[in-house]
Amino acid sequence: MSRLQAEHLYKVFGRRPDEAVTRLESGADRDELRADGTTAAVIDASFTVEPGQIFVVMGLSGSGKSTLLRMLNGLLEPTAGRVLFDGEDVTSLSPRDLRAVRSSRISMVFQHFALFPHRSVLENAGYGLEVQGVPREERTRRAAEALELVGLAGWEDSWPDELSGGMQQRVGLARALATDADLLLMDESFSALDPLIRRDMQDQLLELQKRLKKTIVFITHDLNEAMRLGDAIAVMRDGRIVQLGTAEDILVTPANDYVASFTQDVDRSRVLTAGAIMADKETAYGTTTDGGDEIRGADDVLAAAPATVSEDTPIIELFTPCAGSTTPVAVTDDEGELVGVVPRTRLLAVLGEPMPAPAAPAAEIPAQTGTGAATRTAADGGKAVASA
Ligand SMILES: Nc1ncnc2c1ncn2[C@@H]1O[C@H](COP(=O)(O)OP(=O)(O)OP(=O)(O)O)[C@@H](O)[C@H]1O
Ligand SMILES: [Mg+2]
Repeated sequence: MSRLQAEHLYKVFGRRPDEAVTRLESGADRDELRADGTTAAVIDASFTVEPGQIFVVMGLSGSGKSTLLRMLNGLLEPTAGRVLFDGEDVTSLSPRDLRAVRSSRISMVFQHFALFPHRSVLENAGYGLEVQGVPREERTRRAAEALELVGLAGWEDSWPDELSGGMQQRVGLARALATDADLLLMDESFSALDPLIRRDMQDQLLELQKRLKKTIVFITHDLNEAMRLGDAIAVMRDGRIVQLGTAEDILVTPANDYVASFTQDVDRSRVLTAGAIMADKETAYGTTTDGGDEIRGADDVLAAAPATVSEDTPIIELFTPCAGSTTPVAVTDDEGELVGVVPRTRLLAVLGEPMPAPAAPAAEIPAQTGTGAATRTAADGGKAVASA
């Protein structure tokens, strides 16, 4: 069972929200509603998050990220749609049950984590437990453990203002971890930090995640952060999720220009992996090696390849081998079995512009006899694929 499931979520602020949902369902967009003084903050958002996943929501300011997050833990009631947490409909819980879920099973970490200035670091880290009514002794023990997890052992008795911004943010993270919640909701949690400290926090979160295997929904407007952290990434624009996929999907086949504009500053060579860009091994069969021998099967590929790499090798490591050879790099699985090849042309293609989405084969395009439009689409599609 998925840990978290959002089904056709809508949040409309302003007058006659239900009517607005009906209009949105039939294709109206944000701007049309805004004219009537109604804000469609989230429009028809659906996704699932599996246990242990980091699910990143990315988008420009105002795209609806925080509103979406606040519906996930019931802080905001959806105008339409449902949220299922471990199969249970959060949207239908009584206020009392909802409070219980929020205090013990879901934790939130904000951008500017408000620490209590007159409480020690330890007391701040244990605050969530205090709200739950956990007895002092256990609270102290669990808060101290959480502080150790985030690298703040030894700071228990300090005051918040004795800590740097990054350290304060760690206390916020410790507070969320101390409650033992399965689901962490993090809203721009690292965005206020200096770049180096921010990277450090990302590493630490990934490290913690390996051990704790929480389920995390992480909001950011930074694609590099999204790509480092996200097992899956949802890109939001004007209230809608415009693309849902892995970092590779978003880099290699952005759904539209908006998504592509985010990807321009990303260092593809470090994000993309051999597995993500490789071609079928069969494409190498029948070609010739640098030495002029014909490649007839997997063994020939492995023998002639300038390098053999695994699927998760970043493509930056493929440049040197590719530069010296026209024979493709071999990609193998854990058993050493050939699973694909990376020809030099492929490597160069993915580093340039994002590739067009694979076009549907001509046979799948509905026949529209007499219009000529279908034929043109098919022809363009064919060209796009050939040049990719
Ligand atoms: N309580 C509210 N009442 C009215 N409109 C709201 C409310 N909360 C959010 N909005 C509007 O909904 C839209 C989405 O806001 P939201 O805060 O979810 O965006 P965001 O993606 O989190 O932005 P940011 O990156 O700036 O935090 C915005 O247009 C905002 O003005
Ligand atoms: Mg926000």
